[in-house]
Amino acid sequence: MKGRGLRVVASAKINWTLEILRIRPDGYHELRSVLQTIDLHDVVTLADDADIVLDITEDGGHLRDAPPESNLAYRAAAALRRRAGIAAGARITLEKHIPVAAGLGGGSSDAAAVLRGLNVLWGTQQSDTNLMEIAAEIGSDPPFFIAGGTALVSGRGDRVEPLPDAVAPAMLLAVPPQDERGEKTASMFAALTPHHFSEGEASVGLRAFAESGHMIVDDVLSNTFERVTSTMQPDTERAMDALRAQGHTPHLAGAGPSFFLLDAGHDLAALSSRLRELGFEPRLTRALRREQALRIEEA
Ligand code: C5P
Repeated sequence: MKGRGLRVVASAKINWTLEILRIRPDGYHELRSVLQTIDLHDVVTLADDADIVLDITEDGGHLRDAPPESNLAYRAAAALRRRAGIAAGARITLEKHIPVAAGLGGGSSDAAAVLRGLNVLWGTQQSDTNLMEIAAEIGSDPPFFIAGGTALVSGRGDRVEPLPDAVAPAMLLAVPPQDERGEKTASMFAALTPHHFSEGEASVGLRAFAESGHMIVDDVLSNTFERVTSTMQPDTERAMDALRAQGHTPHLAGAGPSFFLLDAGHDLAALSSRLRELGFEPRLTRALRREQALRIEEA
């Protein structure tokens, strides 16, 4: 493998559903969520090196200022090396396109891409089940990205059931400016109270929907975090409300603050300029099939 390099796709995600069942004894929340990779993606390049080295291209913004050991991609490489009991190194280059801290899973996806790629580069031959276990050491979201495509996740996010690729219309993502984002997942979970909890029926329903091959529609989507956006993310709430008043149905992306609209193809230009007026950057996207989301190529 010496001298070889790999390019790994690290896709963003949205949640078709996101439901919270209860607080677990370990303090995490038990959830049910159907996740979907989308075609917005980072590119992770991996090459042999003496130690683990992290490079982030200029579009990585403030991620470049943080110590490498705090980056999920770096931590993923260290965790795989530990699990496999080897002394290998790698130069990891992150070419960022997924907006950071936007609810689109970019950091988690980079970490999973590092695990999938280094498993090939280092020849560590870990099964997907093992890679998901290692991914769960890094965070609650990375295990999903080992499966990609459409999947039902449960537990704290660490139990992943891959589903057939959902059939979905084009979507318009709305991303707030960088300075209005920030690490907010823990505070979004903390804002939930037991009356927001459910049994996860929407996620089970979405699984059946995906399995039957029906096109995704607004009515089958739900996200519990939308119940706390008015207090926790007022700018997102204001924008989503303004769109609802015009007859649209926006959906929060993960724990926010980005959101998305289904089937935006019809009045794309008008919707895009409305989003800009509301202070959000519009990005047209679509669901990314598992096979495409897991692409690894020679660099
Ligand atoms: O797992 P991760 O480090 O990404 O989670 C960030 C924070 O979000 C956790 O520290 C926890 O406060 C909250 N969380 C939770 N339940 C989950 C996932 C995350 O309460 N299932």
